[in-house]
Amino acid sequence: MITLTIDGRKVQAEERQTVLDVARQNNIYIPTLCVNESVQPYGSCRLCLVEATRGKRTRLVASCLYPAADGLDIKTDSEKISAVRRMIAELLLARCPQSAEVKALADKLGVGQPRFKVEDEDNLCVLCGLCTRVCEEVVDQSAISLVNRGTQREVSIPFNENSDACIACGSCAYVCPTEAITLEDAGGTRTITMPNCRMEFKMSQCPDCGDYWAPEKQLKWMAEKANISPEVFSLCPDCRS
Ligand code: FES
Repeated sequence: MITLTIDGRKVQAEERQTVLDVARQNNIYIPTLCVNESVQPYGSCRLCLVEATRGKRTRLVASCLYPAADGLDIKTDSEKISAVRRMIAELLLARCPQSAEVKALADKLGVGQPRFKVEDEDNLCVLCGLCTRVCEEVVDQSAISLVNRGTQREVSIPFNENSDACIACGSCAYVCPTEAITLEDAGGTRTITMPNCRMEFKMSQCPDCGDYWAPEKQLKWMAEKANISPEVFSLCPDCRS
Protein backbone atom coordinates (compact mmCIF):
# COMPACT_ATOMS: atom_id res chain seq x y z
CA MET A 1 0.00 0.00 0.00
CA ILE A 2 1.06 3.59 -0.58
CA THR A 3 0.04 6.84 1.12
CA LEU A 4 -0.77 10.08 -0.65
CA THR A 5 -2.54 13.28 0.28
CA ILE A 6 -5.72 14.47 -1.39
CA ASP A 7 -7.04 17.89 -0.37
CA GLY A 8 -5.07 17.69 2.86
CA ARG A 9 -6.31 14.17 3.74
CA LYS A 10 -3.87 11.31 3.99
CA VAL A 11 -5.31 8.36 2.07
CA GLN A 12 -4.10 4.88 1.32
CA ALA A 13 -4.05 3.34 -2.12
CA GLU A 14 -2.70 0.50 -4.13
CA GLU A 15 0.12 1.31 -6.49
CA ARG A 16 -1.75 0.46 -9.69
CA GLN A 17 -4.66 2.79 -8.92
CA THR A 18 -5.18 6.14 -10.61
CA VAL A 19 -5.64 9.33 -8.61
CA LEU A 20 -9.28 9.38 -9.74
CA ASP A 21 -9.84 5.85 -8.43
CA VAL A 22 -8.36 6.80 -5.08
CA ALA A 23 -10.38 10.02 -4.87
CA ARG A 24 -13.62 8.17 -5.64
CA GLN A 25 -12.79 5.49 -3.12
CA ASN A 26 -12.54 8.26 -0.52
CA ASN A 27 -15.70 10.07 -1.63
CA ILE A 28 -13.78 13.02 -3.03
CA TYR A 29 -15.61 14.51 -6.02
CA ILE A 30 -13.76 15.04 -9.30
CA PRO A 31 -15.92 15.73 -12.36
CA THR A 32 -15.54 13.36 -15.33
CA LEU A 33 -17.17 12.81 -18.67
CA CYS A 34 -14.98 10.32 -20.48
CA VAL A 35 -14.39 7.53 -17.98
CA ASN A 36 -16.26 4.26 -17.78
CA GLU A 37 -15.05 1.27 -15.83
CA SER A 38 -15.55 -1.05 -18.80
CA VAL A 39 -12.80 0.59 -20.86
CA GLN A 40 -9.30 1.94 -20.38
CA PRO A 41 -9.07 5.65 -19.45
CA TYR A 42 -8.25 7.90 -22.36
CA GLY A 43 -8.07 11.43 -20.99
CA SER A 44 -10.13 13.22 -23.60
CA CYS A 45 -12.48 15.52 -21.66
CA ARG A 46 -9.86 16.96 -19.25
CA LEU A 47 -12.53 17.71 -16.67
CA CYS A 48 -10.76 15.54 -14.14
CA LEU A 49 -7.65 17.75 -14.02
CA VAL A 50 -6.10 18.08 -10.57
CA GLU A 51 -2.94 19.66 -9.22
CA ALA A 52 -0.30 17.06 -8.46
CA THR A 53 2.77 17.97 -6.41
CA ARG A 54 5.74 15.66 -6.22
CA GLY A 55 8.74 17.13 -4.44
CA LYS A 56 8.98 20.75 -5.57
CA ARG A 57 7.18 20.25 -8.84
CA THR A 58 3.47 20.92 -9.28
CA ARG A 59 1.64 20.02 -12.48
CA LEU A 60 -1.90 19.88 -13.77
CA VAL A 61 -2.64 16.26 -14.58
CA ALA A 62 -5.64 14.22 -15.73
CA SER A 63 -6.54 12.25 -12.61
CA CYS A 64 -8.15 9.45 -14.64
CA LEU A 65 -4.75 8.64 -16.12
CA TYR A 66 -2.33 9.75 -13.43
CA PRO A 67 -1.03 6.94 -11.21
CA ALA A 68 -1.24 7.26 -7.45
CA ALA A 69 2.22 7.33 -5.87
CA ASP A 70 3.64 7.39 -2.40
CA GLY A 71 4.02 10.94 -1.06
CA LEU A 72 2.03 12.55 -3.87
CA ASP A 73 0.11 15.67 -2.86
CA ILE A 74 -3.10 16.20 -4.83
CA LYS A 75 -5.37 19.23 -4.85
CA THR A 76 -8.75 18.73 -6.47
CA ASP A 77 -10.39 22.06 -5.66
CA SER A 78 -7.84 24.86 -5.83
CA GLU A 79 -8.74 28.16 -7.51
CA LYS A 80 -6.60 27.24 -10.46
CA ILE A 81 -8.38 23.90 -10.89
CA SER A 82 -11.81 25.52 -10.59
CA ALA A 83 -10.92 28.10 -13.23
CA VAL A 84 -9.65 25.45 -15.66
CA ARG A 85 -12.68 23.24 -15.12
CA ARG A 86 -15.07 26.13 -15.63
CA MET A 87 -13.30 26.98 -18.90
CA ILE A 88 -13.58 23.36 -20.08
CA ALA A 89 -17.24 23.24 -19.06
CA GLU A 90 -17.86 26.46 -20.98
CA LEU A 91 -16.26 25.02 -24.11
CA LEU A 92 -18.31 21.84 -23.74
CA LEU A 93 -21.45 23.91 -23.28
CA ALA A 94 -20.71 25.85 -26.46
CA ARG A 95 -20.17 22.55 -28.26
CA CYS A 96 -23.26 20.80 -26.86
CA PRO A 97 -25.67 23.48 -25.61
CA GLN A 98 -28.63 21.06 -25.45
CA SER A 99 -26.92 18.20 -23.65
CA ALA A 100 -28.57 17.61 -20.27
CA GLU A 101 -25.39 15.99 -18.96
CA VAL A 102 -23.19 18.91 -20.01
CA LYS A 103 -25.68 21.46 -18.72
CA ALA A 104 -25.85 19.71 -15.34
CA LEU A 105 -22.08 19.60 -15.15
CA ALA A 106 -21.72 23.25 -16.13
CA ASP A 107 -24.36 24.17 -13.59
CA LYS A 108 -22.52 22.30 -10.87
CA LEU A 109 -19.34 24.17 -11.76
CA GLY A 110 -21.13 27.52 -11.78
CA VAL A 111 -21.00 28.07 -15.53
CA GLY A 112 -23.92 29.89 -17.16
CA GLN A 113 -24.11 30.97 -20.78
CA PRO A 114 -20.90 30.16 -22.68
CA ARG A 115 -18.93 33.06 -24.12
CA PHE A 116 -17.90 30.97 -27.10
CA LYS A 117 -19.69 30.66 -30.40
CA VAL A 118 -22.17 27.81 -30.65
CA GLU A 119 -21.53 26.06 -33.98
CA ASP A 120 -24.31 23.51 -33.86
CA GLU A 121 -27.25 24.01 -31.53
CA ASP A 122 -28.29 20.34 -31.79
CA ASN A 123 -24.92 18.69 -31.30
CA LEU A 124 -24.81 16.25 -28.38
CA CYS A 125 -21.45 14.57 -28.97
CA VAL A 126 -18.66 15.66 -26.62
CA LEU A 127 -16.10 13.52 -28.50
CA CYS A 128 -15.24 11.58 -25.35
CA GLY A 129 -14.52 8.48 -27.45
CA LEU A 130 -16.25 6.10 -25.02
CA CYS A 131 -18.30 4.63 -27.88
CA THR A 132 -15.27 3.86 -30.04
CA ARG A 133 -13.32 2.46 -27.10
CA VAL A 134 -16.09 0.13 -25.95
CA CYS A 135 -16.55 -1.08 -29.52
CA GLU A 136 -12.82 -1.80 -29.81
CA GLU A 137 -11.90 -2.95 -26.30
CA VAL A 138 -15.03 -4.77 -25.14
CA VAL A 139 -16.83 -5.87 -28.30
CA ASP A 140 -13.59 -6.26 -30.26
CA GLN A 141 -15.20 -4.95 -33.46
CA SER A 142 -13.90 -1.37 -34.06
CA ALA A 143 -17.00 -0.65 -36.12
CA ILE A 144 -16.91 3.07 -35.32
CA SER A 145 -14.10 5.58 -34.97
CA LEU A 146 -13.32 9.23 -34.36
CA VAL A 147 -12.41 10.83 -37.68
CA ASN A 148 -11.23 14.23 -38.95
CA ARG A 149 -9.60 17.01 -36.98
CA GLY A 150 -10.55 20.22 -35.21
CA THR A 151 -14.14 21.35 -35.65
CA GLN A 152 -14.74 18.54 -38.19
CA ARG A 153 -13.94 15.81 -35.66
CA GLU A 154 -16.80 13.34 -35.28
CA VAL A 155 -17.76 9.75 -34.54
CA SER A 156 -18.25 7.88 -37.74
CA ILE A 157 -18.81 4.51 -39.36
CA PRO A 158 -17.33 3.75 -42.80
CA PHE A 159 -19.13 5.83 -45.47
CA ASN A 160 -21.85 6.70 -42.96
CA GLU A 161 -23.78 3.57 -43.94
CA ASN A 162 -24.55 0.30 -42.17
CA SER A 163 -21.19 -0.95 -41.01
CA ASP A 164 -20.35 -4.59 -41.69
CA ALA A 165 -18.34 -4.72 -38.49
CA CYS A 166 -21.21 -3.39 -36.34
CA ILE A 167 -23.04 -6.27 -34.65
CA ALA A 168 -25.87 -4.03 -33.41
CA CYS A 169 -25.10 -4.74 -29.74
CA GLY A 170 -25.69 -1.10 -28.82
CA SER A 171 -22.74 -0.91 -26.43
CA CYS A 172 -21.89 2.48 -27.92
CA ALA A 173 -25.32 3.83 -26.98
CA TYR A 174 -25.14 2.35 -23.48
CA VAL A 175 -21.84 4.08 -22.65
CA CYS A 176 -22.54 7.41 -24.39
CA PRO A 177 -22.77 9.94 -21.53
CA THR A 178 -24.76 12.52 -23.48
CA GLU A 179 -27.23 10.44 -25.53
CA ALA A 180 -25.53 11.49 -28.74
CA ILE A 181 -25.93 7.84 -29.74
CA THR A 182 -29.33 6.28 -29.17
CA LEU A 183 -30.84 2.84 -29.57
CA GLU A 184 -34.44 1.89 -30.22
CA ASP A 185 -36.01 -1.54 -30.60
CA ALA A 186 -39.38 -1.40 -32.34
CA GLY A 187 -41.36 -3.49 -34.80
CA GLY A 188 -38.67 -6.14 -35.20
CA THR A 189 -35.97 -3.57 -35.95
CA ARG A 190 -33.13 -2.20 -33.84
CA THR A 191 -32.22 1.34 -34.85
CA ILE A 192 -28.94 2.86 -33.72
CA THR A 193 -28.73 6.58 -34.37
CA MET A 194 -25.42 8.43 -34.34
CA PRO A 195 -24.78 12.14 -34.90
CA ASN A 196 -24.36 11.68 -38.64
CA CYS A 197 -25.93 8.33 -39.48
CA ARG A 198 -28.63 5.83 -38.67
CA MET A 199 -28.33 2.05 -38.83
CA GLU A 200 -31.14 -0.51 -38.84
CA PHE A 201 -30.84 -4.18 -37.91
CA LYS A 202 -33.33 -7.02 -38.06
CA MET A 203 -34.27 -8.51 -34.69
CA SER A 204 -34.60 -12.23 -34.05
CA GLN A 205 -38.11 -13.39 -33.20
CA CYS A 206 -38.65 -16.06 -30.56
CA PRO A 207 -40.63 -18.92 -32.17
CA ASP A 208 -42.44 -19.64 -28.86
CA CYS A 209 -43.57 -16.27 -27.50
CA GLY A 210 -43.15 -14.19 -30.66
CA ASP A 211 -41.03 -11.51 -28.94
CA TYR A 212 -38.32 -9.77 -30.89
CA TRP A 213 -35.53 -10.09 -28.39
CA ALA A 214 -32.05 -9.47 -29.90
CA PRO A 215 -30.50 -8.42 -33.21
CA GLU A 216 -29.90 -11.37 -35.55
CA LYS A 217 -26.42 -10.07 -36.30
CA GLN A 218 -25.44 -9.98 -32.65
CA LEU A 219 -26.72 -13.53 -32.07
CA LYS A 220 -24.76 -14.80 -35.07
CA TRP A 221 -21.65 -13.05 -33.73
CA MET A 222 -22.15 -14.57 -30.27
CA ALA A 223 -22.57 -18.08 -31.70
CA GLU A 224 -19.41 -17.68 -33.77
CA LYS A 225 -17.39 -16.32 -30.83
CA ALA A 226 -18.56 -19.13 -28.55
CA ASN A 227 -18.22 -21.69 -31.33
CA ILE A 228 -21.71 -23.02 -30.76
CA SER A 229 -24.71 -23.57 -33.00
CA PRO A 230 -26.85 -20.47 -33.72
CA GLU A 231 -29.82 -22.70 -32.81
CA VAL A 232 -28.87 -22.18 -29.16
CA PHE A 233 -30.13 -18.60 -29.51
CA SER A 234 -33.33 -19.46 -31.29
CA LEU A 235 -35.56 -19.08 -28.21
CA CYS A 236 -35.54 -15.89 -26.09
CA PRO A 237 -34.10 -16.19 -22.53
CA ASP A 238 -37.59 -16.37 -20.97
CA CYS A 239 -38.70 -19.28 -23.14
CA ARG A 240 -35.38 -21.03 -22.69
CA SER A 241 -35.64 -21.24 -18.91
S1 FES B 1 -12.27 11.99 -17.02
FE1 FES B 1 -10.15 12.27 -17.16
S2 FES B 1 -9.94 13.30 -19.01
FE2 FES B 1 -12.05 12.84 -18.97
